[in-house]
Amino acid sequence: MSLSQQSELPNVPKHVAIIMDGNGRWARLRQIPTIAGHKAGAEVARKITECASKMGIQYLTLYTFSSENWLREKSWIDDFMGLLRLYLRNELKALMSNDVRIQVIGDRTLFAPDIQELIKDVEEKTKNNKAITVVLALSYGSRDEMVRAFKRLSSKVKAGELDPDTINVEDISMSLDTANLPDPDLLIRTSGEQRISNFLVWQMAYTEFVFVPTLWPDFTESDFESAINEYQQRSRRYGLYASA
Ligand code: IPE
Ligand code: IPE
Ligand code: MG
Repeated sequence: MSLSQQSELPNVPKHVAIIMDGNGRWARLRQIPTIAGHKAGAEVARKITECASKMGIQYLTLYTFSSENWLREKSWIDDFMGLLRLYLRNELKALMSNDVRIQVIGDRTLFAPDIQELIKDVEEKTKNNKAITVVLALSYGSRDEMVRAFKRLSSKVKAGELDPDTINVEDISMSLDTANLPDPDLLIRTSGEQRISNFLVWQMAYTEFVFVPTLWPDFTESDFESAINEYQQRSRRYGLYASA
């Protein structure tokens, strides 16, 4: 199905989340430095953002660096942080001209101060952009996010601002980093792994999953369109009866 035909279908997902996995394996297969795999991966993220925006997808959440990725070796982290700095610095012009808003979820306090500044800056400068919101999950882990949310709620209870008997789903959702975002309609994970690796656990209660074997740096616009197309064939029921 062509891009234009697809966006005419009524059920274009509003929010797509992607676990961009396989950069390391892609580099290893080519016997090139791992960081080259992440560079190639970043280029793909840029291309897929453009494609998602054209399709009318409003939110694209990209799992970029997990809370558990901090456990990798220091040299890997240093290289990755170098690349992150570079992109946060150099991407602003393109984000502005493509009308892309950037939001970051995750525990940003763990980043070096200059990276925290760059994040704040890109969020602030793109905040009125309207074509698509790209949510970068950076130092993000669902359990970590939930712990932070429960702490926030408990301090409200302690301060007498919240009655624990009234706590509901909405209160918890609104205490997460994703407070202002709709839940993802579709999750795509590349590289053949079929797990969610601590990504948006609460938010994906009713998300449709598409797993593809392609390594992220090889993922194309056409692979993305196929995943969207697969989503469009699914029947989401939210616990109700299947239609005959
Ligand atoms: C995914 O690529 C990106 C990050 C985790 C930062 P990996 O680095 O996990 O690549 P593989 O899974 O080892 O191939
Ligand atoms: C998930 O990939 C995190 C990102 C893509 C940023 P990982 O490569 O870290 O996940 P596991 O370790 O295979 O579960
Ligand atoms: Mg991986």
